[in-house]
Amino acid sequence: MEENRILRHNRVLRYDFRERVVHWFAALSYVYLMLTGLAFWSPWLFWIAVILGGGTVSRVLHPWVGLVYAGSVIYMHGMWRQDMRITKLDREWTKMIGAYVRNEDEEQLPEHAKRGFQPYAPVDRFNLGQKYLFWVLYWGGLVLLATGLVLWFTEYIPWNLRFLRLISVILHPIAFLVTLGAFIIHVYMGLAVVRGGFHAVVRGDVSDAWARHHHRLWFERIERNAAKK
Ligand code: HEM
Repeated sequence: MEENRILRHNRVLRYDFRERVVHWFAALSYVYLMLTGLAFWSPWLFWIAVILGGGTVSRVLHPWVGLVYAGSVIYMHGMWRQDMRITKLDREWTKMIGAYVRNEDEEQLPEHAKRGFQPYAPVDRFNLGQKYLFWVLYWGGLVLLATGLVLWFTEYIPWNLRFLRLISVILHPIAFLVTLGAFIIHVYMGLAVVRGGFHAVVRGDVSDAWARHHHRLWFERIERNAAKK
């Protein structure tokens, strides 16, 4: 995972091509599932299915796109689960979550910095919020997959296992709502709060300054690895 990620012109590779492709498979499939799922959920929202090609097309495609989403999230788990492990340092990081929410950066706290006070615990490749998001979307994705398969093939569920249908009808929308909450926060953080993140997940690179500021431990490790080569 930690190959040489130093690029020219003071840039670092944050997401390689494979990581970006998998991310956008997950993102596009999730948006489609969200829209068609909302359409099936309430008659008030059925107009969404009409715009997306009609009720029948949406109903036929929804489970297939579900497989794409589940496949992407499982693949992501293979790529990122090491980086997403929650560590002791992450618990340190939670102590300054108030400062983070108020958008107070290290630069905005020069008085603290002068006194050698570090308001932020250093962050590795992903911060705790990003890790929580990943695990919610991963486990949520697996619950959606399992319950979705039951709802897809209801007629094959034997009569004595009919409780699976009941559980799935209830759990599928609950898992959806939980992932939707995480998804909304993720899109808001990625597009509006952490500038530079969107460029990273589209083009791959970030500046040295961005990497040092948001993910110091990760950046320092990359620098050390590059120096060894
Ligand atoms: C239109 C929808 C989406 C947008 C605009 C979006 C945007 C972004 C951005 C900007 C980043 C880079 C953040 C950084 O490195 O600072 C990112 C990373 C990531 N995205 Fe998405 N994303 C979307 C959908 C999804 C979906 C559906 C998943 C579901 C698995 C997902 C999972 C992740 C993960 C696990 C990361 C790496 C950790 C993190 O930054 O949270 N994204 N995304």
